Amino acid sequence: MAEASNGKSYGATAGTINIGGNAYKVVDHEYDVVVVGAGGAGLRATFGLAAKGLKTACITKVFPTRSHTVAAQGGISASLGNMGPDDWRWHMYDTVRGSDWLGDQDAIEYMVREAVPAIIELEHYGVPFSRTPEGKIYQRPFGGMTTEFGKGIAQRTCAAADRTGHAILHTLYQQSLKNNAEFFIEYFALDLIMDEGTCRGVMAWNLDDGTIHRFRAHKVVLATGGYGRVYFTATSAHTCTGDGGAMVLRAGLPLEDMEFIQFHPTGIYGAGCLITEGVRGEGGYVTNSTGERFMERYAPSAKDLAARDVVSRAMTIEIREGRGCGPNHDYIELHVEHLDPKVIHERLPGIAETARIFAGVDVTRQPIPILPTCHYNMGGIPTNHHCEVMTVKNGDPNTAVPGLMAIGEAACVSVHGANRLGSNSLLDLVVFGRSAANRCAEVLTPGESHKQLPHAGEEAIARFDRLRHAAGGTGTAQLRLNMQRTMQNDCAVFRTQQSLDEGCAKMDQVIAGSSDIRVKDRSLIWNSDLMETLEFENLIVQAQATIRSAANRKESRGAHAREDFPERDDKEWMKHTAIWVDEKGKTRIDYRPVKLQPMSNDVQSFPPKARVY
Ligand code: SIN
Repeated sequence: MAEASNGKSYGATAGTINIGGNAYKVVDHEYDVVVVGAGGAGLRATFGLAAKGLKTACITKVFPTRSHTVAAQGGISASLGNMGPDDWRWHMYDTVRGSDWLGDQDAIEYMVREAVPAIIELEHYGVPFSRTPEGKIYQRPFGGMTTEFGKGIAQRTCAAADRTGHAILHTLYQQSLKNNAEFFIEYFALDLIMDEGTCRGVMAWNLDDGTIHRFRAHKVVLATGGYGRVYFTATSAHTCTGDGGAMVLRAGLPLEDMEFIQFHPTGIYGAGCLITEGVRGEGGYVTNSTGERFMERYAPSAKDLAARDVVSRAMTIEIREGRGCGPNHDYIELHVEHLDPKVIHERLPGIAETARIFAGVDVTRQPIPILPTCHYNMGGIPTNHHCEVMTVKNGDPNTAVPGLMAIGEAACVSVHGANRLGSNSLLDLVVFGRSAANRCAEVLTPGESHKQLPHAGEEAIARFDRLRHAAGGTGTAQLRLNMQRTMQNDCAVFRTQQSLDEGCAKMDQVIAGSSDIRVKDRSLIWNSDLMETLEFENLIVQAQATIRSAANRKESRGAHAREDFPERDDKEWMKHTAIWVDEKGKTRIDYRPVKLQPMSNDVQSFPPKARVY
């Protein structure tokens, strides 16, 4: 019997597989559902599945409460109307407009309507939200969130001070334990088990004892987060290496809308750490070297609370035109010194600490130096609102991949389209984590037997063995740095065909260089050299997908700002990119249509129009 991380035995059996003269101990498990990843989406799905009586395993490479959701600061959106009038239709309009009309309106309607019960549910599970004097959940303004279809500023973002992700993650982990979900902690997912187009499980490496695990499941739910670490500077944790997206590409399936990368306007200059948009929600503002509150020029109505892509572009233009701050004129300043210290103490304690540690700044007296920093991937694994993975096959763009689901930042539902609004990410995690659990409960019968697949996972072990014994001349860190610098310089806030083509050529060189990769440590237990190499293999295919998709899309939309194609082109480009990347880095592109039709008759479609803030 094999033992899971929490010391329980789950009835697994063990054997040995020989690859290239190396014997690997392989432990077999059978589950109704396996969730890969224990961030907000993964945990919401895990405990929902366990609560519905499905035998569920959650595999995670980090301890659940260390998942990247812990870093989400400002809050989670829902039209509760606790601090003023609100309506889910206004939230829907804002999300469609924020997406620059690339979001699917059926999925957006689903998300914003489900937001209200999902937040009440979180409150009942025990999330310690900040409170209004009357005891209701406190809600702050966030960028792009308005009332009456753009007329006023909405207070829609529910907050637990500036540690909302932390509060949600801990509560969801507690709920998972309460519902007896089975955890495999510090297990690194290697590859999907695919059988004639159907997903039948996933292979994983136990970092702690070096064994390989073959998890059979009727549904695999990928909740592996984003791949922000393709960039040199990112608010993402070092663990954000898009492991699920890369497994999907290796299974011969496409990723969607990878060209849309969100740069958060307020990353700390130099360090890249996040300073929440909640700072501007509480009255903070940005200035250039002349002290000008320049957002008044770029977004006369929303000003500092315009959508993130708008603020990031404005900041970049100010710096380019010589109005950056500091001796090198290369950053912008964020001010909260004018706020009552009580507000900082109660609502923004985390950023005060982060600014002190990473910028050496006392926020009650000095501005914080900031720069736009890679923060979020709008693209990912294509799904419908039930979280079922979609592909394009024989001309049908809505072909479901049996057995495979994806949620959270790993997925592209697509509710964020070309640009996500702040605080819609935590919402996406809980709404679609819950939706995935509900869907599995609808379509699966607990305890169904699994198809016999005696050679399942051998390819994954062969890939693992090849990398473990890689004896080239180039270290993983060097290749990763080359990739990150290419993305940072050539696929940034502003893009041109020239920068992207140069970036594509450099990325091809990095991919070619990967055949010369070197792993020094051949051990199987806590081999971080090998793990970083596996992570690099995951990152590089998604860097390639991103830069190739960006070079292909000849318009500006949301976070994809092409200087050579400054206008949005709905006639040619109102469509989702689907991109395949093969093992040699060769890409193929196709398209999926944008769904402009909402889910119900309770709201009308929001037809495309100019996006003014
Ligand atoms: C923030 O607090 O600004 C980040 C939260 C988000 O990206 O939604």
